[in-house]
Amino acid sequence: MDITINKIDTPKAHPDEANLGFGTIFTDHMFVMDYTEGIGWHDARITPYGPFEVSPATMVLHYGQTIFEGLKVYKKEDGSAQLFRPKDNFERLNRSAHALCIPEINVDDCMEALHTLLEMEKGWIPSAPGTTLYVRPFIIAMDPYIGLKSSPTHRFMIILSPVGAYYPEGFNPVKIWVSPEHVRAVRGGLGAAKTAANYAASLYATEIAQAEGYTQVLWLDGVERKYVEEVGSMNIFFVIDDEIVTPELNGSILAGITRDSVLKLAKHQGKKVAEKRISIDEVFKAHEEGRLQECFGSGTAAVISPVNKIKFGDREITVGDGGAGPISSGIFNDLMDIQFGRSEDPLNWIVPV
Ligand code: COI
Repeated sequence: MDITINKIDTPKAHPDEANLGFGTIFTDHMFVMDYTEGIGWHDARITPYGPFEVSPATMVLHYGQTIFEGLKVYKKEDGSAQLFRPKDNFERLNRSAHALCIPEINVDDCMEALHTLLEMEKGWIPSAPGTTLYVRPFIIAMDPYIGLKSSPTHRFMIILSPVGAYYPEGFNPVKIWVSPEHVRAVRGGLGAAKTAANYAASLYATEIAQAEGYTQVLWLDGVERKYVEEVGSMNIFFVIDDEIVTPELNGSILAGITRDSVLKLAKHQGKKVAEKRISIDEVFKAHEEGRLQECFGSGTAAVISPVNKIKFGDREITVGDGGAGPISSGIFNDLMDIQFGRSEDPLNWIVPV
């Protein structure tokens, strides 16, 4: 792939790594490539990071034909940097593309685009403990047309943001609220795609949860309103007896790369894992019987987020002793050690930058 490079005249000052927060600071450059029906993907380029002009009729603004990914670059103690399972992200981008009638992109081209951009931006990878460079690839429908159809033109971009912890709570446990009536996605819909609609659909119930004093919504399935699906913008896990359980992928749950990594790592360590349908009643029953040991969410941005309280109807349970349990703490540390290159990479997930 030919990538045209147009460098910024005056590089920006780098931020204070102690106060990065999440997703507000962006690096000097971004990757851009356009798609035109009949031609394919073309005009790969790296340009200064900045706004670009679009028509108010641009299709993505009206009908949400858009997909995205999230992955991170980790700085090692020796100053080198590495990615975690990046091809899995671009393969998932293509699965999301399929669901949204967006043209797929060659995964090797995506990797080349990312490596070329990172080569220019590696000075932006933060090194303070717990900080990373978050990578946000995304595709938007670009045609200026307000009739409803699949857009014949698209834009693929990669932007980079130095980040700290996603949740202000960090690894401290969060309280979650089971929404009795709102659903994030339904089987046969877009739930398995990483697309704006699923995140927009989560906003209203999240505001209700927060007004009730909870951090996140625990989503139930949209058909029977019984089975657990996700938590906030993360996948969810329960430790019941000695088994680590997560809802099986059913078409309305995102196939999280951190979810998959938790399952594979735990299995590799000889722990019992299961992907199966699990109802909220089973979770509460396991708690009543003293068998619910832990609950946690997993995602790229948050990594592992322990859950210590679950509110469903008029019942609220405290999971374990209310602190982060040994399984979630162990998985969090083991995953971070692999991602930051502090330990071996037993499952071949690391790609050097
Ligand atoms: C991620 O975990 O990387 C996501 O894409 C979720 C997003 C809401 C930050």
